[in-house]
Parts: sequence; structure tokens; C-alpha cells
Amino acid sequence: MTAIMPTRVLILGGGGREHALAWKLASEPGINEVAVAPGSVAIGTEPRVRVMAGVAPLDGNAVVAAARHVAAELVVIGPEAPLEAGVGDALRAAGFAVFGPNRAAARIETSKSFCHEIAEAAGVRMPRSAAFADLDEAIDFAGVLAAGGDGLVVKADGLAAGKGVSVCDDLEGAVAAIRALARDTAGRGAAAGVFVVIEERLRGPEASVIGLADGRDVVGLPVARDHKRLLDHDEGPNTGGMGAYSPVADVPETGIAGLLDQFHRPIIAELRRRGTPFIGALYAGLILTADGPVLLECNARFGDPEAQVLLPRIATPLGPVLLAAARGTLADSVARMGIQGPVLPTFPGATVGVVIAAAGYPDAPRHGDAISGLDETIAAGHLVFHAGTASDDDGGYVTNGGRIVTVVARGRDLEEAAERADAAASLVRFHGSQRRRDVGRGTGVLQSDRDATDRATAPTPAGARR
Ligand code: GLY
Repeated sequence: MTAIMPTRVLILGGGGREHALAWKLASEPGINEVAVAPGSVAIGTEPRVRVMAGVAPLDGNAVVAAARHVAAELVVIGPEAPLEAGVGDALRAAGFAVFGPNRAAARIETSKSFCHEIAEAAGVRMPRSAAFADLDEAIDFAGVLAAGGDGLVVKADGLAAGKGVSVCDDLEGAVAAIRALARDTAGRGAAAGVFVVIEERLRGPEASVIGLADGRDVVGLPVARDHKRLLDHDEGPNTGGMGAYSPVADVPETGIAGLLDQFHRPIIAELRRRGTPFIGALYAGLILTADGPVLLECNARFGDPEAQVLLPRIATPLGPVLLAAARGTLADSVARMGIQGPVLPTFPGATVGVVIAAAGYPDAPRHGDAISGLDETIAAGHLVFHAGTASDDDGGYVTNGGRIVTVVARGRDLEEAAERADAAASLVRFHGSQRRRDVGRGTGVLQSDRDATDRATAPTPAGARR
């Protein structure tokens, strides 16, 4: 017996990550239709994909109605906001198979102090830290960490749309960040409670390791790395991510099994022990220190832009894996699919994704600039995932967000994929566009992947038109 393929899937969200998920799932055998709510015009141009633009993804009742309307056999929740709003809970209560945790388990992302609490209980190493509800106590602790001279990190306890982390060189910067978070919290009328987590600052490259979990078991994706800063050489302000690549030379794919054992499995076991099983994509944001990998943060979903470079590397259907995770039958189903080991099989080679952002991003992105070159990029064999576009009156696209599109290129190795992605990204033009030119560069090449390239059988890229 083989694993069960879903034939109708509903995806919640409408950005680049959800475009990549829709592209991947809609290409798989047995799929009749992928619905995306609210999706985007560009996502709706993928074959076998329809968008449900009127569905509010944070409204549990509306999402349940949409899932019923399309007779979804599987619902995949893309972003964190519906997880925090309890949309997973509403869907499960209505009897749907859901890939995405309930609100209680999603706290691993939506509360940084909860993540530290779970990691400590699970024996998972995170930076030394403390959480505070009191401004003066927070500043006192920052002073203790700052005295060490290595800087410190100030994090909003809750979701902050990618703006909640300040890496500070000294106490002055940390105090300003703590005061700003205290003001924000008060401004939102939030109830008294923990508003800030202060951590020691660790040094090293970072890596994103995502495990697909069914509440008990986990199967890994390849490792990816994102580029969070706006400008080349990791300068400029933090963003939602300016590009990503996979594989990552300093985390060999043979090492993923050990990382899943070290980070994902203990966290999944602890959440299960507490009666809040984690079902969904458990994203471990790691820092690779001289003393080994340390967990910086967990997300309760696929990373973005990481998903956009990871999904094109997966050489097996994803729908049956996500459905099995949603049903709690992951180990059995993965074995039936003939998948050996704890990581999904990949095509040889590498992928690099370059994000092209709007003028003014990240502070004040400008909308309405006409975009050209998308057709040429796709015709050249690359993938284009849309994050912030709208259609214009002539059937083309205009900017309508901060990050606009991601251009994803494949190569026999990272070097080739990076060169192709850079060249492909230069085809996409709009007034004031911003992008990095160093995504995936200077990071080494996996020799084993270079050797394996003759066997490459990557799928034909689809991608949205224009
Ligand atoms: N790329 C980091 C994130 O998805 O949060």
C-alpha cells in the first residue's frame, strides 16, 4: 500500500511561501485542485490553482466555510498570524486534516519566552536569557549582559512582523530597544505581562532547519540559509528576508538527522507531554557557534523565503507527507513512500532565491510601480514566486507590497545557482527596485552535490506568467 495523496488542498496565505507551496502541490500526481485563500492574482495563474480572494485568513469561521466549499482533504496554514488566531483549532474542530499547529503549540513561535521555557524543559540549548514584564528589571539585566562586552539581543516576546529583534552592541542601544518595546506594548493596550526577552549575543553563521512534524515524529527538509539584511555583505536594516539558498555548505545534509535529534525531537516530545502536540513545520533557527549549534528561535511554519528555495529541491510528492503529518501517521506513510532516513529526498544541485523589493522597503515600500521582465525570467527556465504584486489594467503586474517577487534559479552547485539567480533577477525591473547581489555567494560548494549533477532530473518550472 502507498501513502494517501490528497486530491484537494486549501492553502492559507498569499505570499511567496504560499506561491511556492501551491506550485509544488499543484504539480503532484493525484491533485485535482489547490485553493489558496486569499492567494493573489499571480498565484491563481498556476495550473490547477484557484484563489479565494474574499476569504479572511484570520477568521476561523470563514476559513472553515472555505475548506468545506472546496471539500479540502488537507489544509496547509502558511503564515504565523492564522496560527496565533487559532484557525488551526477551528479547522480541526470542524474535522479537517490540518498541517499547521493549534494555537497552544504555535506559542513556540508566538511567544519567545515560551520557546525558552520549552527548550529548557526539553534540554535544548538556547542563548542565556531572561524574560521581563518590568521595564527597570529588564534594563538591569541588560546591564549585566552588556558588561560581558559581547553585545546582547533584545526581542519582543510576541509576534512583531519581523521587527521584534534588535541586535545591540552596547547597553545604550539595548535600553533604547527595550524602551521602544515597552512603549509599543503599552500602545497596543496589551495586558501587563512579559513583553521582552533579553539574550546573550552569540556569533556564527545561521541556518534554518525545518522538520515536518505529526505531533510525535518528524521528517526533515534540506537546510537553507536566508539573508535578513537589506544590503550586500549583511549591511543595512533587517528585513523579512532578501534571499535564501540551499544546500548550506557548513551544514552537510548528512548532519540533518543529528540536528533533528538535538533540536526538533526534544521540543516535539515536550509539547506532546504538555498535551499540545505540534503538527506542522517546526522551523529551528540555529546559530553555528564555535561550541556547536544553538537554537536562536523556533517558528511554527515554513520559513519565507526559505520555502521558496527548499520546495523546488524536494524530489518526492509533498502532499502525502503533509497529509500524513496532519493525520498523525507520518512514520508509516513516509516508509510506504519508500523514503529512507529522516530527510526528504532531494534533486541534486542547489537553488538560490533572490528577493526583489519595492522602493522604500522596509520602512515605506512604494506601491504601483509597473514590473517588467517576469515573462523573460520564466522563459529562461527560472521560477518566479510573487509576494507583493497586484495586476494592472493591461494584464501585467505592479508592486503592491514590500518584498515583490523572488526569482529562484537552480544550478549544479551553489556557485552556478547563485550566478544564474543574480542574472535572472536583473531581468526583473521596476522603478526603485532593491535586491542583493551576493545571495548564496562566498559560502562554499558541496562537492558531493557538484559530483551528482549529471543525474539531475529537476521538474519543469512553471511559475506565474508576467
Ligand atoms: N526567514 C525567516 C522566517 O521565515 O521567519
